[in-house]
Formats: sequence, structure tokens, C-alpha cells
Amino acid sequence: MRLFLLFSFSALVLHEAYGFTDEPDRKALLDIKSQVSEENQDVLSSWNNSSPLCNWKGVTCGLKHKRVTRLDLGGCQLRGTISPSIGNLSFLISLNLSDNSIGGTIPYEVGNLFRLKYLNMSFNILGGEIPVNLFNCSRLLDLDLWHNHLEGGVPSELESLGKLEILDLSANKLRGKLPASLGNLTSLMRVEFWENNLEGKIPDDLARLTQLVHLELGVNKFSGGFPLFIYNFSSLEYLSMFGNVFSGSLKPDFGNLLPKLRLLYMGTNSFTGPIPTTLSNISNLQEFGIEYNKMIGSIPSSLGKLKNLQRLLLNNNSLGSCSSGDLDFLKALSNCTQLHTLLVNRNRFGGDLPTSITNLSTNLWKLDLGTNFISGTIPYGIGNLVSLQKLVLRENLLTGPLPSSIGKLSRLVFLNLTSNRMSGEIPSSIGNITGLEKLNFLTIVLKEPSSESCSVQKHIIFVGWV
Ligand SMILES: *[C@@H]1O[C@H](CO)[C@@H](O)[C@H](O)[C@H]1NC(C)=O
Ligand SMILES: *[C@@H]1O[C@H](CO)[C@@H](O)[C@H](O)[C@H]1NC(C)=O
Ligand SMILES: *[C@@H]1O[C@H](CO)[C@@H](O)[C@H](O)[C@H]1NC(C)=O
Ligand SMILES: *[C@@H]1O[C@H](CO)[C@@H](O)[C@H](O)[C@H]1NC(C)=O
Ligand SMILES: *[C@@H]1O[C@H](CO)[C@@H](O)[C@H](O)[C@H]1NC(C)=O
Ligand SMILES: *[C@@H]1O[C@H](CO)[C@@H](O)[C@H](O)[C@H]1NC(C)=O
Ligand SMILES: *[C@@H]1O[C@H](CO)[C@@H](O)[C@H](O)[C@H]1NC(C)=O
Ligand SMILES: *[C@@H]1O[C@H](CO)[C@@H](O)[C@H](O)[C@H]1NC(C)=O
Ligand SMILES: *[C@@H]1O[C@H](CO)[C@@H](O)[C@H](O)[C@H]1NC(C)=O
Ligand SMILES: *[C@@H]1O[C@H](CO)[C@@H](O)[C@H](O)[C@H]1NC(C)=O
Ligand SMILES: *[C@@H]1O[C@H](CO)[C@@H](O)[C@H](O)[C@H]1NC(C)=O
Ligand SMILES: *[C@@H]1O[C@H](CO)[C@@H](O)[C@H](O)[C@H]1NC(C)=O
Repeated sequence: MRLFLLFSFSALVLHEAYGFTDEPDRKALLDIKSQVSEENQDVLSSWNNSSPLCNWKGVTCGLKHKRVTRLDLGGCQLRGTISPSIGNLSFLISLNLSDNSIGGTIPYEVGNLFRLKYLNMSFNILGGEIPVNLFNCSRLLDLDLWHNHLEGGVPSELESLGKLEILDLSANKLRGKLPASLGNLTSLMRVEFWENNLEGKIPDDLARLTQLVHLELGVNKFSGGFPLFIYNFSSLEYLSMFGNVFSGSLKPDFGNLLPKLRLLYMGTNSFTGPIPTTLSNISNLQEFGIEYNKMIGSIPSSLGKLKNLQRLLLNNNSLGSCSSGDLDFLKALSNCTQLHTLLVNRNRFGGDLPTSITNLSTNLWKLDLGTNFISGTIPYGIGNLVSLQKLVLRENLLTGPLPSSIGKLSRLVFLNLTSNRMSGEIPSSIGNITGLEKLNFLTIVLKEPSSESCSVQKHIIFVGWV
């Protein structure tokens, strides 16, 4: 017994002498604990002096030196603030405080953590500016501050984080322009700025980010044409420019330059010109949206080559020419067997509704052709589209009856045929669609397209169909 005591005493002395003590980490963690409270869970009660530091929940130590290398408190329902003592955990490599309700600001002492590679403070209520000291953590690979209340600009000092691969500043209150210095972060693979108040042109210096796989610029006030350097990002799989004020047209060889795209969101901007036919060369494209823009021309039938296409959003543009042939693309899309959402409403499509519509994917659950100049009748085969939940053909020039096959669309919950020239009785089979919540064909409206402008005149000629 005495021997053992003696032995452990000298081991302790050795530890102290060589600076191997965990005392600074223990003090720092207890100080961190003192500034937060837990709502429901009970993680931090294990942080007490009767159990060894390296057994504390969320704490991982290095194998040799027994100093804290990882702190993982993600999703612990913590409230309070981050103690500046965090900066004393000088061996920290990974810090995860995500998915809590931590407020206050990011303490500048985080800048002391020069070994840090992973920092995740997403989904908290952190405010203030991103402290520039943070950019002393030059070994950082992942920096995730998604969904906080951070203010100020995107700091140009970010360029110090030369190894950064993931940068996520989405859903904050950042404003101003993107700094040109971001172009120095040439290891970046994933960049997210979704939902801030950022503005201006995307700086050309970002041309150096050729490793990018994922670029999210959505819901900001970015402007200017489609940045030409993005055409050089041949590894890009995800591109969102949604909800900005980008303008200008897309290069005809768009699809040949960005062949790896899977998700492409360009909606709610001011893009003009035609949809590039080369999109059909993006063989893995799953979702393409360019809704709410000023696109013109026809929808290329080549899109039918996109075997993986699931969502196609082209609504609210000036596509089509108010004449027959406008809907030829529907035939080609029959090869897109994964297609579940097709929105082409609010355009200038004319001509008869082709029977090929009945060959669209049986996975289709949302189809909107409303507010166009489509004539003809609804084909009987519409009943083939057995997955349809939402069918909108309103504000067109359709004639004839509603086919009884509509009763086969057992999942339909929304049907709007208002403002057409349809006639006849409502088929009794409609009673078989038990989930139908909104049945909107009470008003039958006559619409006359003027031949030059596609402009619309409406005359209510018949109100019926109860
Ligand atoms: C953190 O380190 C500083 C400087 O070494 C020291 O003054 C402070 O007391 C430490 N904080 C804790 C909680 O140990
Ligand atoms: C201290 O932590 C240990 C181990 O997690 C736990 O069993 C014990 O109940 C804790 N003590 C107190 C006083 O909370
Ligand atoms: C950080 O915590 C979140 C939430 O618990 C978790 O989803 C994520 O995987 C964690 N990250 C790491 C690297 O442990
Ligand atoms: C950060 O944590 C969130 C969960 O809270 C997770 O969704 C996200 O992927 C994490 N970020 C990184 C870069 O690992
Ligand atoms: C960060 O680096 C700057 C200059 O290199 C230095 O003045 C500052 O003290 C450092 N901050 C921290 C928290 O280490
Ligand atoms: C990028 O870094 C180099 C030196 O590493 C520097 O000269 C240059 O100014 C930086 N570029 C930008 C845009 O900040
Ligand atoms: C695209 O890359 C080529 C070759 O690296 C380069 O010459 C060209 O300037 C780049 N284009 C843009 C717009 O950055
Ligand atoms: C790309 O698409 C265009 C038009 O659809 C086509 O003419 C061309 O051959 C395609 N290129 C490749 C490499 O597939
Ligand atoms: C959609 O298009 C219609 C008609 O062209 C227009 O009145 C409406 O404002 C557009 N909606 C949006 C959100 O742009
Ligand atoms: C669908 O694909 C088949 C086989 O790849 C092809 O022969 C046919 O022409 C395509 N149909 C349409 C409408 O593009
Ligand atoms: C159905 O379409 C008509 C005509 O465009 C529109 O006034 C009505 O609000 C639509 N009904 C629903 C429930 O969206
Ligand atoms: C409703 O469905 C039943 C069973 O599928 C079928 O026998 C009947 O003919 C349908 N009614 C109408 C009006 O289509």
C-alpha cells in the first residue's frame, strides 16, 4: 500500500514537472459549465471532481497527454453563453457546440485554439460580429456558424484560414459584399451563404476556388451576371443562386461546362434568354429550378435525356410562343421516370394539350400548367398519373369535359381547373377521390388570347359546377 502511494505520488510529481497536468483543462471546463444551464438533459453533471476529466461526457482526451482534444456538446439543449475560458483548452482539435440555445458572442479567446480543425457553433443564438481572432486558428478545416444572429460583414481576414474546406455562414444577419480575399481559400469545397443580406457582384477573385463541389449563394441580394468563372468549376455538384437579383443569360454550353451538377437552383432572379439545350448533358441532374425569371424561348426536348430528373421548375417566365409545338417537350419528358414535380405555369405556352402528357412519370405528384394559352381537351389517359396529388390547369383555353378517369387519381388533394372553357358534367367518379380538399372549378371563364401579344381578356360566361 505504501509502495503504491509512493509510486503514484511520484507519477503525479512527474506529470506536474513536465506540464502534463490536466488542471488548466479542468478549470476551463468547470468555468464553461458555470456559464450554461441544461434544459432537460443531464450531461454536465458528470463534469465533477469525483470523476476523471477524460470520462466527462462530451469530452475526449488525447491518448498520451490526457489533455482535452475534442469537446462535443452538440444537441445538449444548453442555454447561456460561451465562457472565454474556452480559449484555455489549448489542445482542442474539435469543438462542437451546435444545436443548442447559446447566446452572447463568440469569445475572441477562441483564437488561442491554434490546433483547432473543426468548429461547429451552428444552430444557436450567437450575436455580434465574427471576431477576427478566430482567424488565428489557421489549421481550421471546417467552420460552421450556420443559423445564428451574427452581424457585420464577411471578414476579409477569413483568408488566413488557408486550409478551410467547409465554410458555412448561412442564416445569419451578415451584410455587405463578399471580400475578394475569399479567393485565397483555394481548398474550399463547400461554401454556404444562404439567407443573409449580402449584396453586390460575386468577386472575380473567387475564380481560384476551383475545388468547389457545393456553392450556396441563395436568398441574398447578390447581383450581376452569372459569374463567368463558375463555368470553370467543373467539379460543382450543387449550385444555388436562388432568390437574388442576378441577371443576364446563361452560356449555351452551360451543361458541357458543369457536367457534374445534381442540384441547380436559379429561381427568383432576373435571368433572361433561353434555357441552354446542353443541360441535357448533365447526366446526374436531379433538380433544376429557374422559376420566377425572365426566360424566353422553348423548353428543350433534350431535357428528356435526364434520366434522374425529379423536379423541374420553370414557372413564372416568358417561355413558349402561344402556339402549337410549345408543349412538345412533354413528350420527351416521358423518359424522365423519376420526375415528381413539374411546374410550367405562368408562361406563354400555347397549342393543344398533347396526349403525351399521359405518359409522364407515374411518380409525378405535382403538375401545374396553369395560366398559359393551352387549348384542346384533357386526355382520358390523365388517369394514368396515379401519384398526382396536385393538378392545376387553371387559366387556360381548355374545352370539353373532365374525363371520368379523374376518379383514378386517388391521391389527388388539389385540383384547380378554374378559368377554362370546359363543359359537361362533373364525372361521378370524382366521389372516389376521398382526399380531395380543394376542388376549384366553380367558375368557368372564357379567355381570348390576342394573337400578337398573348395578352388576356376574360369574360365570365358561365358559373356552375357545384
Ligand atoms: C485561463 O488562462 C488564463 C491565462 O493563462 C488565466 O488567467 C485564467 O485564470 C484561466 N482560466 C481558467 C478558468 O482557468
Ligand atoms: C459525478 O460524475 C459521476 C460520473 O459521471 C456520476 O456518477 C456522479 O453522480 C457525479 N456526481 C455528482 C455529485 O453529480
Ligand atoms: C456535432 O453535433 C451535431 C449535433 O449533435 C452532430 O450532428 C454532428 O455530427 C457533430 N459533429 C461532429 C463532428 O461530431
Ligand atoms: C454542424 O452541426 C450541425 C448539426 O447541429 C450539422 O447539421 C452540420 O452538418 C455540422 N457541420 C459540419 C461542418 O459538420
Ligand atoms: C491573433 O493574432 C494576432 C496577430 O497575429 C495577435 O495580435 C492576436 O493576439 C492573436 N489572437 C489570439 C487570440 O491569439
Ligand atoms: C492572397 O494571398 C496572397 C499571399 O498569400 C496575397 O498577396 C494576396 O493579396 C491575397 N489575395 C487577396 C485577394 O487577398
Ligand atoms: C477559366 O480557366 C481558364 C484555365 O485555367 C482560365 O484561363 C480562364 O481565365 C478562367 N476563366 C475565368 C472566367 O476565370
Ligand atoms: C451536349 O448537348 C448538345 C445539345 O444537346 C449536343 O449537341 C452535344 O453533342 C452534347 N455533348 C456531349 C459531349 O454530349
Ligand atoms: C408570376 O407571373 C404573374 C403573371 O406573369 C405575375 O403577375 C406575378 O407577379 C408573378 N409572380 C411573381 C412572384 O413574380
Ligand atoms: C426515350 O428513350 C428511348 C431509349 O433511350 C428513346 O428511344 C426514345 O426516343 C426516348 N423518347 C423520347 C420521347 O425522347
Ligand atoms: C384556382 O384558380 C383560380 C383562378 O386562377 C384562383 O382565383 C383561385 O384562387 C384558385 N384556387 C385556389 C384554392 O388556389
Ligand atoms: C369507385 O371505385 C370503385 C372501386 O374501385 C369502382 O368499383 C367504382 O366504379 C368507382 N366509381 C366510379 C364512379 O368511378
